[in-house]
Amino acid sequence: MTEVVLRVEGLCKSFSGVHAIRDLSFEVESSEVMGLIGPNGSGKSTTVNSLAGTFPVTSGEIVLTGTSIQHLPECERVELGLARTFQTANVFPEFTVRQQIALGCEATLKSSPLSSVFGAEYRQGESEAIEARMHDLLEITGLLDVADDLVGTISSAQQRFLMVATALASEPKIVLLDEPAAGLVSHERKTLSDLIKAIRARGIAVLVIEHHMALIMDVCDRIVVLNFGSKIADGTPAEIRSNPAVIDAYLGEVSDA
Ligand SMILES: Nc1ncnc2c1ncn2[C@@H]1O[C@H](COP(=O)(O)OP(=O)(O)OP(=O)(O)O)[C@@H](O)[C@H]1O
Ligand SMILES: [Mg+2]
Repeated sequence: MTEVVLRVEGLCKSFSGVHAIRDLSFEVESSEVMGLIGPNGSGKSTTVNSLAGTFPVTSGEIVLTGTSIQHLPECERVELGLARTFQTANVFPEFTVRQQIALGCEATLKSSPLSSVFGAEYRQGESEAIEARMHDLLEITGLLDVADDLVGTISSAQQRFLMVATALASEPKIVLLDEPAAGLVSHERKTLSDLIKAIRARGIAVLVIEHHMALIMDVCDRIVVLNFGSKIADGTPAEIRSNPAVIDAYLGEVSDA
C-alpha cells in the first residue's frame, strides 16, 4: 500500500528579493521516484535545500510522514527519514570510503558511528547490523572494491555513488538526489538508473533532480517541472514529454529529451 512520504504545501523561498521558489506544492509517495526538472536557476536545488533544512524557508509547510519539519534543524530531518546528496561532490577526501559511509549511519546509532572503523566498540548488537548494512550499501553502489581506499583517490563517478551510499546509510524514507548524474558517462548513468530503481524497490522514495532527460524519463514514475520558481507541470513521463508548456520552457533546449 502506498502512503504519502513527503508533502510540500505552498512553499516559498526568497533570497533578498529574488523569488527562488513560488508557492510550490507537491507530494511524493513511498516507493515512488519523482523527478524535479527545469531550466538552470528555476529553483530545483533551492527546493532540495529547503526540504533538507539548509536554510529557513520564507513560508509554506513541509510534512514528512505526518510531521511538519520546516522548523526542524537538518540533523533532526535526517533522523526522521529525509536524506540528501549535493549537486557538487560533498565528501571527505581523507576518509576511507567505509568511514565516509559510516558517517551516514550516525542518525540511526546509539554509539558513535565511527566506533568500529576507528577501533572502538559499538554497543552490543549494533556492530553486526552496521557491518551488514555497510556491506549492502557498498555492494548496491558498486563500491566494494574500493571500500578501504581513501575517498580522495577514487574516481569522481565513484565519489558521486559514495554520496548516495552515505545518504542511504541513515536508512531514510526518502532520499533527495541533486544532479546525481553530473559528470557521469553513459555506462555510469545506466548504473545510476539501476541504483535508483533498486532504492525504490526497497520501499524508499526518491526525489531526483537531473538535466539528463533519458535518465529522468527512464527512472521516474512522476515528474514535477519548475520554471522561474513556479510549478508549471506535474505528470507521468509521457505526459511531461508531450506538454507544450514544458517543451517551450525546457525540453526544447535539452539535447537528450
Ligand atoms: N544562497 C543563495 N543566495 C542567493 N540566491 C540564491 C541562492 N541559492 C539560489 N539562489 C538563486 O535562486 C534561484 C534558483 O537557484 P537554484 O540553485 O535553486 O536553481 P537550479 O534550478 O538548481 O539551477 P541549476 O539547474 O543551474 O542547478 C537562482 O536565481 C539563484 O541565483
Ligand atoms: Mg541546482
